[in-house]
Amino acid sequence: MVTMEKIVSLAKRRGFVYPACEIYGGLANAYSYGPYGTELKNNIKKLWWKTFVDKREDIIGIDGPIILHTKLWDASGHTTGFNDAMVDCKKCNKRFRADHLIAEAINEDLEGDLKRIDKVLKEKKIKCPDCGASEWTNSKNFNMMFKTEMNGFDGDVYLRPETAGAIFVDFKNIVDSMRVKIPFGIAQIGKAFRNEIVAGNFIFRTREFEQMEIEYFIDPEMKWESLFEEWLKLQEEFTIALGAKKKDIRRHEHPKEKLSHYSKKTTDIEYNFPFGFNELYGLAHRGDFDLSQHSKFSNQKLEYFDVEKNKKYIPHVIEPTFGLDRSLLVSLLSAYTEEKIGEGTRVVMKFPKNLAPVQIAVFPLLRNKPELVKKAKQIYDDLKNDFICEFDDNGNIGKRYRRQDEIGTLYCLTIDFDSLEKDDLTIRNRDTMKQERVKIKESKSYLKGEIYDK
Ligand code: GAP
Repeated sequence: MVTMEKIVSLAKRRGFVYPACEIYGGLANAYSYGPYGTELKNNIKKLWWKTFVDKREDIIGIDGPIILHTKLWDASGHTTGFNDAMVDCKKCNKRFRADHLIAEAINEDLEGDLKRIDKVLKEKKIKCPDCGASEWTNSKNFNMMFKTEMNGFDGDVYLRPETAGAIFVDFKNIVDSMRVKIPFGIAQIGKAFRNEIVAGNFIFRTREFEQMEIEYFIDPEMKWESLFEEWLKLQEEFTIALGAKKKDIRRHEHPKEKLSHYSKKTTDIEYNFPFGFNELYGLAHRGDFDLSQHSKFSNQKLEYFDVEKNKKYIPHVIEPTFGLDRSLLVSLLSAYTEEKIGEGTRVVMKFPKNLAPVQIAVFPLLRNKPELVKKAKQIYDDLKNDFICEFDDNGNIGKRYRRQDEIGTLYCLTIDFDSLEKDDLTIRNRDTMKQERVKIKESKSYLKGEIYDK
């Protein structure tokens, strides 16, 4: 069974994810992506962009700034309303997110209801997870935006708490400069920052993370229900493309009374993480809230003229949002496999072919035989133009296979003494562990067929 401990340990040992600033004792649940984590993350981004931007005629991409005009956050309601409830333990002074404490203790969702939170904390004698006491301060709202200063701008500026803001403020430019026709979407991948009261569960909840978001603009009179369903399916399909199993994915529709006044519907895609089902992605019908608010706060008309219907309107928005770090966590959890071989166990990361951080590793059988090393280097130099490749001559072959399996390398190529005579090499398949001898001159097209065409 895959546990968070196993994933965290493999991620560090094999260069996927490291605790940030470890030499200084770490920094409040922040993480740094190592070389293989970065490749994996880039592959997930590429897959997302290809799926939702490159392959679609109705979605275009942008890349907006992290620091945006403060009025934008006033208009979206973040400066006043982007709050979580915090509470401190009077005994050990540890700080917690109050609604999460209650949800974990008695499985009740009191998000946003400070009065009831205080009542329940007292009446149910909810215990501090750290010291066991049940003496709490009153809960209070804590704004999660990171504040900073910017030369040339009067007043505070904020690191964006979601990428969506940058999309809405570019709406007018997109409509004016591109030949977009409703329905159309604007997509963006980038960093977002939230001063979470408690970060945790590895890269599941951090204060600096990445989102992949789309604002999909529609005619306000459109029957949107089937489009909403289509987007949910696309989000589920993307989760499957990360390697997840269907049984580990479920939907959670937010109850009507919990929806913001402007939202017609919000549904989360949840994944069965080792710590339980939790939000992976979200889909929200946001009405015309965002464009109307930005129009009001900026005094600019953010309308769309529908030539075919000969009418002007503020479009409504359906917003599919995908967390990139949570996607990466799902791909690590889904890939992790332990297989019994003989007396031992092999750990192998069975990433889908298009996500594997290394596609091919090339080995000389022995590192102290220059003729083998030279030939292996030549092959590596040739293949690295077409594949993500690694040259590996460390330790014995068994150790190299173990390491490459734990990284999820699709194929390992070995150059041995026969290779020098017969101009061939062995290709070992990660999943079946079967080895085939293939002529060197045919190996590239063989690998292209296996990796890109199958
Ligand atoms: N624009 C809508 C929006 O930001 P959200 O549900 O607050 O919606 C979207 O965030 C996604 O971002 C989540 O579904 C999750 O995948 C990811 N996310 C949110 N907070 C996060 C955090 N603290 N750490 C890692 N990922 C986070």
